[in-house]
Amino acid sequence: MAYFEWARDMVIDDGPIDDDHKHLVRLVNELHDATTEGRGREVVGRILDDLIRYTNEHLRKEEAVMAEAGFPNLERHKIGHQAFIDQLGKLQRRYQEGSIAVAAQLSSVLRDWLSIHIRRNDRELLDFMRRQPGAPTSPRG
Ligand SMILES: [Fe+2]
Ligand SMILES: [Fe+2]
Repeated sequence: MAYFEWARDMVIDDGPIDDDHKHLVRLVNELHDATTEGRGREVVGRILDDLIRYTNEHLRKEEAVMAEAGFPNLERHKIGHQAFIDQLGKLQRRYQEGSIAVAAQLSSVLRDWLSIHIRRNDRELLDFMRRQPGAPTSPRG
């Protein structure tokens, strides 16, 4: 069993948002594997950079999708994203300053945040879309 498993209750759009989330799950697993296998700073640092860059890109992309859809909770959602970006930035700086333990901490911070954020907050987009006229009435499996 992977460190972080993508699950059906994380489905949001059956499209680009889910693809991003799945990719983030893969990257978190890579980071976790690299730190538990005791890989060097170079390997861990590279995965960490990728992960943080991809997370930033995802959050921006998701906000654009939400804006396009007329999602009413966008401003509140953006505040949540920004707080997480700030937290990641702080941890990344601590890693760069030499704390290798931070990399392991980062995989759990990312896993826990993504797991809860997707299921609670991103999920609000799915609920909103389902209430729109013309939306499919039956939830997908
Ligand atoms: Fe998301
Ligand atoms: Fe989000």
